[in-house]
Amino acid sequence: MNELLTTTLVITAISVVLALILTLANKYLADYGKVKITINKEKEYEVDGGSSLLSSLVGQGIFIPSACGGKGSCGYCKVKVLNGAGPVLATEKPWLSKEELNDKVRLSCQVKVRNDIEIQIPEELFNVREYETTLVKRDLVTDKIAHVRFELPEGETINFKPGQFMQIKAPEYAGTDEFEGNDEEVFRAYSIASSIKDTKHVEFLIGYEKGACSTYIHKVLKEGDKVMINGPYGDFYYHDDDADTILLVAAGTGFAPIRSILYHMRDQDIKKKTRFFFGARTPADLPLVDEMEQFEKDLADFKFIPTLSRTKPEHHWEGDTGHVDDSIDKYVDGEGKYSCYLCGNPKMIASIVEALHKKNIPDDRIFFDEF
Ligand code: FES
Repeated sequence: MNELLTTTLVITAISVVLALILTLANKYLADYGKVKITINKEKEYEVDGGSSLLSSLVGQGIFIPSACGGKGSCGYCKVKVLNGAGPVLATEKPWLSKEELNDKVRLSCQVKVRNDIEIQIPEELFNVREYETTLVKRDLVTDKIAHVRFELPEGETINFKPGQFMQIKAPEYAGTDEFEGNDEEVFRAYSIASSIKDTKHVEFLIGYEKGACSTYIHKVLKEGDKVMINGPYGDFYYHDDDADTILLVAAGTGFAPIRSILYHMRDQDIKKKTRFFFGARTPADLPLVDEMEQFEKDLADFKFIPTLSRTKPEHHWEGDTGHVDDSIDKYVDGEGKYSCYLCGNPKMIASIVEALHKKNIPDDRIFFDEF
């Protein structure tokens, strides 16, 4: 009996000592104290060490694109780290090209801030903010695409460039018979579809893909609900350059940034010849056709050219059929100076770029947003 008691006491004592060591190690080894983040060699922020670079920056009101919520699975949160990051982790490598690795680019969600760190980010990211918006309108513009309009909080405004995107936060929500629930906060990127002149609102075109964020927008949200949105982001936007012809090319929700560009052209009274090639399957997949007809009246020389790939006789479709690259081949003569803005999936972008090359339009006149 005495032996059993002694053994129990020894085991308990060892456990207590181990717990104490762990607590002390946590306190003294994992406590990195205050560390300094220097941005673009001029701005300095003092933060508590130990968190990821991404969350330390968010804590200072600096938002970096991050569609996976910091799990290292979207590759959006790239930041150039000049000093103090430690070695590149295995979780980062699949997302970084050889050039990016040489250029000290890192995934900010995977880099821990344990000591002073020096980073470089595009100046525009200082303009990125988080807004608690209110959903004021949601309409279906095709079977699958919702046109949503959010109002910014009283007294707040947003400045963005036509073509840029924002991130919408989907919180946790319960599932129903109709859709699955979401058990973690996620951010998803969506191009802004509205005019840059409307600084009190942002609009998006959101396709229903049964993902956490598209389900939230299509099925969970109700008008009047609050929604967290941060941005703007992105280097895809309209440039006022020396082009005499603007080609806009999109499919699906790639319609959104093109709509914002068209509003900009109308608001700024830009008179350049402009053609919008839009690829869809059937007439029912064409969003906001009335608006496009109105732009044809409002803009100096604009034509909306939808091209449908799956028409049937009962559709009575009299427009172009096939793929968008066929329409580019048919309507673009390759004369003059072009600027081309492309939005769609990587496969579609690749075939459009090839079609534009055949018209002798060089890469430096082609801007695209792949998603
Ligand atoms: S936030 Fe998605 S990879 Fe870093």
